[in-house]
Amino acid sequence: MAVSRASTRNLMKKLSSMLTPASLLHSHATSFGFKEVPEEEKGRMVGNVFSSVAANYDLMNDLMSVGLHRLWKDRLVSKLHPFPGMKHLDVAGGTGDIAFRVLESVNNVSSRALHSDELQDETQIYVCDINPNMLSVGKKRALERGLGGNRTLLWVEGDAEALSFGDCSMDGYTIAFGIRNVTHVEKALAEAYRVLKRGWQIPLP
Ligand SMILES: C[S@@+](CC[C@H](N)C(=O)[O-])C[C@H]1O[C@@H](n2cnc3c(N)ncnc32)[C@H](O)[C@@H]1O
Repeated sequence: MAVSRASTRNLMKKLSSMLTPASLLHSHATSFGFKEVPEEEKGRMVGNVFSSVAANYDLMNDLMSVGLHRLWKDRLVSKLHPFPGMKHLDVAGGTGDIAFRVLESVNNVSSRALHSDELQDETQIYVCDINPNMLSVGKKRALERGLGGNRTLLWVEGDAEALSFGDCSMDGYTIAFGIRNVTHVEKALAEAYRVLKRGWQIPLP
């Protein structure tokens, strides 16, 4: 796909505003890149950014991190120790990078383990994201990887702060490059805790 230099610059500007570390959070204003914005505005602003970059998000990620995001994601998933039968929730999952890795890792374990076929059928990996454009790019990528009809990979539009999953329903939870985009981090963390089965850990990249 051809991307002009000007549009690349524009997209990089938009993305870099999202990739800067969050500054102080307080009750009425919240960080959006370098700026403080009213809390009620942040969701819309984040939505606009990711709607406009969705089609080129993966390319931008490669350019801006010089490909390093791939290693960081590999490392995150290796800390998760995915296993056949796992119920995993990747929040702010975007175009599916983490979910694809989790699935690949489950398949690797499965191909080495005896009697893991039945368990493998029970594996469910959810990609949850607030932005439908990011999810549709992800679904397209899944199709390209031959994972389109895969009942293991499930795409869900949803907010990290109010998840639609049951209490103690997940073996694993990841949120990669997503927590800074959430308006109320404490609500997202409370939701992560709620949906995770007790005794499991959240690996941090
Ligand atoms: C920087 S991208 C990360 C995508 C993916 N995790 C990755 O590592 O490539 C951040 C994602 O967070 C999503 N997002 C922002 N706010 C969210 C929220 N409150 N709940 C769920 N997803 C959200 C955006 O739509 C976007 O897809």
